[in-house]
Amino acid sequence: MKRTQLFPLFILFLICHCIKINSQILTPPLSKLPRINGAKVFGVRPNSPLLFKIAAAGEKPIKYEVKGLPNGLQLNTETGLITGKLSKRGDYLMQVKVSNSLGNAERSLTIKVGDKIALTPPMGWNSWNCWGRDVSKAKVLSSAQAMIDKGLIDHGWNYINVDDAWEGQRAADGTIQTNDSFPDMKGLGDWLHARGLKFGIYTAPGPKTCLGFIGSYQHELQDMTTFAGWGVDYVKSDWCSYSGIFDQEKDTSLAAYKKPYLKMYDAIKVQNRDIYYSVCQYGMREVWKWGESVGANSWRTTGDIEDSWESMHEIGFNQYFMYPYAKPGHWNDPDMLVVGNVGWGKNLHPTRLTPDEQYTHISLWSLLAAPLLLGCDLAALDDFTLSLLTNDEVLDINQDPLGKQARRVYCNRSRYKFHLYAKELEDGSVALGIFNLMNYNLSYNDISLSQMGLKGGMIRDLWRQKDIGVFDDILKVNIPAHGVLLYRITKVDNKK
Ligand code: GLA
Repeated sequence: MKRTQLFPLFILFLICHCIKINSQILTPPLSKLPRINGAKVFGVRPNSPLLFKIAAAGEKPIKYEVKGLPNGLQLNTETGLITGKLSKRGDYLMQVKVSNSLGNAERSLTIKVGDKIALTPPMGWNSWNCWGRDVSKAKVLSSAQAMIDKGLIDHGWNYINVDDAWEGQRAADGTIQTNDSFPDMKGLGDWLHARGLKFGIYTAPGPKTCLGFIGSYQHELQDMTTFAGWGVDYVKSDWCSYSGIFDQEKDTSLAAYKKPYLKMYDAIKVQNRDIYYSVCQYGMREVWKWGESVGANSWRTTGDIEDSWESMHEIGFNQYFMYPYAKPGHWNDPDMLVVGNVGWGKNLHPTRLTPDEQYTHISLWSLLAAPLLLGCDLAALDDFTLSLLTNDEVLDINQDPLGKQARRVYCNRSRYKFHLYAKELEDGSVALGIFNLMNYNLSYNDISLSQMGLKGGMIRDLWRQKDIGVFDDILKVNIPAHGVLLYRITKVDNKK
């Protein structure tokens, strides 16, 4: 066949491919009208440098205003960056307004000055699930730039976390140094902060990291001080080689599990900036019961996730009993997201989760109030993945200020496995996830809300952003294989 004959076939292939991708997209196209997204509450300690980016989507340019901005804080009206310091404890309520050529939007924002940070789960990116040991400054900057260019930052995504493989040797005075892939950590931190992004880093409480690089053992204070100097906002501390020390010490008490994490926390809390503390020890000794007591803002509850249904659903559907331990400032962490192009090294591949499995993944992690850390190459985001990550009504479930983790309100253990999760929200409404764990469609005509302890009301389909009607009790559903329906039930005020 001649090249010219092949051309129409190629065009046909492209059209079919686009139709296939677009038919899987449920999130409606983004409006050009302004909308304020992301966290409505933000915690900061007295006198810590504050950096809060107002997340707002809509046609650019957008202008930002804040009524009631307290003395000590400044707003950049072009970028929506709030910076400064507050010394007095208390709740500062302000009104944020964003406008563009098509209209404006307003929303309240509360900055809470006190001992708690991370009042909503962190949303951002981490290098591990994509680049693994092949991470470099250039790759991190590329995803950070894409977080801005593709608009993720306008929907509340803001952490950029460097995982393992940045570490070099210690200098003669013990100061930790970077390897050649990260020539200038302070410069990287400054670059991120100037754009409203936060900077995360990885270390270990033991002498080595999981990849065998240098850990912070016996250098905890020195390393946390170095990190603070680089402008680090988030530290992940990964157990791995600490097991050697643990075994040597022959103490298997709970205090022995806590010891290395308390030591690291002592070094974090004396820094002159707020640092999110992510404890990673895979759930040993039911860490969800004591993570808060070692100062953790989140604790990994499981081993490492992979981009397969088996891994994602095994982890995700086994978090339900931890719901009492999640609260503002302290989150159960079922590991990072596996959507987009992942690979843990040089060769990335599109996630092996089907589109419905990805809806399940994002819905479940949102209901669980879990940290949302992307593990894909953001520069290579496709339209489907972008639609999955920019559905504000879904992300609002994760970022709800009440900070409750969903309870599992129904679990059918018979042949037809389907599970229902309900998450109480600040405004009195409830988010309901109806999950089909089978590999074929399931239909039900008789799901009774009252039997699950839920009240009826107006039901909105959050992925499609569409009201589907008022239901007092019985729901009829059809859920695709490994898929989900994510609803918000709002009480109907009959008096109106
Ligand atoms: C462990 C952690 C991962 C990642 C790697 C880095 O496996 O669970 O999330 O941080 O170490 O080596």
